[in-house]
Amino acid sequence: MAITGGDVERGKEALRHYGCGGCHVIPGVPGATGQVGPSLEGIALRTYLAGRLQNAPENMVRWVQHPQSIEPGNAMPELGVKDGDARDIAAYLYTLR
Ligand code: HEC
Repeated sequence: MAITGGDVERGKEALRHYGCGGCHVIPGVPGATGQVGPSLEGIALRTYLAGRLQNAPENMVRWVQHPQSIEPGNAMPELGVKDGDARDIAAYLYTLR
């Protein structure tokens, strides 16, 4: 499952850089205690992302970059996440099981 071509350690940094933890609990990321969105604990084991996308690496990357085109009006903003950063973030998230 964890095949995104990303780098786990860089992903952890990117999660901080983009402020994902302001809205999500993310185990292992300091200060990531937000309660706006769902906790990302165990996200690697979930069947669906955001209740609608099959949990697969390419969908994880797509969601992190474009939550608004996938589900217009949901509370997760488009954060301008770059391609490489999105792959690194996905690599980190797939360590959460
Ligand atoms: C302003 C708050 C906010 C920010 C910032 C935010 N998110 Fe989200 N996120 C949400 C909400 C709300 C949802 C639930 C969307 C839905 O289910 O429709 C969500 C859903 C998700 C999901 C799917 C979770 C699941 O249980 O299926 C992932 C993965 C995710 N976000 C990752 C990220 C990442 C990575 C970042 C940083 C690049 C980020 N989020 C930034 C609010 C946010």
